[in-house]
Amino acid sequence: MAHGILTGKTGIITGALDEHSIAWKTALLAKEEGAQFILTNAPVALRMGPAKELAEQTGAQLLPADLTSLEDINKLYDAAAEQFGQIDFVLHSIGMSPNVRKDRAYTELNYDWYHKTLDVSAVSLHKMLQTAMDRDLIREWGSVVGLTYIAAQQVFPRYSDMTDAKSLLESIARTYGYFYGVKKKVRVNTISQSPTPTTAGQGVGGFDRMITFAERMSPLGNASAQECAEYIISLFSDYTRKVTMQNLYHDGGFSKMGVTDPLLDVMSREWAPGEEFFPQGWDPITGAPDKK
Ligand SMILES: NC(=O)c1ccc[n+]([C@@H]2O[C@H](COP(=O)([O-])OP(=O)(O)OC[C@H]3O[C@@H](n4cnc5c(N)ncnc54)[C@H](O)[C@@H]3O)[C@@H](O)[C@H]2O)c1
Repeated sequence: MAHGILTGKTGIITGALDEHSIAWKTALLAKEEGAQFILTNAPVALRMGPAKELAEQTGAQLLPADLTSLEDINKLYDAAAEQFGQIDFVLHSIGMSPNVRKDRAYTELNYDWYHKTLDVSAVSLHKMLQTAMDRDLIREWGSVVGLTYIAAQQVFPRYSDMTDAKSLLESIARTYGYFYGVKKKVRVNTISQSPTPTTAGQGVGGFDRMITFAERMSPLGNASAQECAEYIISLFSDYTRKVTMQNLYHDGGFSKMGVTDPLLDVMSREWAPGEEFFPQGWDPITGAPDKK
């Protein structure tokens, strides 16, 4: 049920690829809550994906922008300034790692791709913030939200170089949050979301096992994309005006857990005498039974 908590607010929502995307759910809810916004995604995503439907449904302008490009960011902001003057919120909901896509383990990175991962998934937030502050695009008490994952704090071996991208993203949110806060009273936060079945999420090796593990480790269960959208809307609203520079866990409690009884039960089965804990031929780099 909508409460109108974004009535009169305007913004930019990035990264709505398809109906599973966290940004897609956020756009639908932002509309319900009274906001107007521009939708944007990488040109290739707009050509191939169904974002036009979302634009029609929400009455939003849909613009292509590669958010690693300052030129594209400026064009996007020109359009936002023309339509709204200043805006109240920005959702940074983008991520991409060529190393993850090509199944490169953290110890076998291609460094050109590594740069690309960091640029798309983290530095793009800095570019969006710096360009917005230069242009004074975001109104006082505005809110910028980025999306991250707990692999920034703890080791999840299959997350490859995205782990570094998320650490950088969180650092940018925290540090830029200081500067934007003192200069313009704009808040900047990241939400650390449960594993979620989206295109980006499912690209990570062993995703199905990860999501099951997280579900069993979280007292409230995994947070869905819809629930993430609801949390994002609260951060865009006036009810969270003094929340800034935070990395906010939205994970059903996963981040505070050590272990749960059902998982201990699984681990405590009878081991045959001399049985190795790790399966035969297990490869610590790829996590797979001997691929090489
Ligand atoms: N799905 C998960 O398990 C999970 C968990 C925690 C955090 N996140 C984060 O949530 C955010 C949204 O991802 P999602 O899960 O909704 O997946 P998604 O695949 O639906 O969205 C990722 C988006 O990034 C866009 N993108 C990639 N490169 C771009 C570029 N150069 N310029 C502009 N856009 C670009 C894609 O087109 C896509 O729309 C990402 O930052 C992701 O890392 C996802």
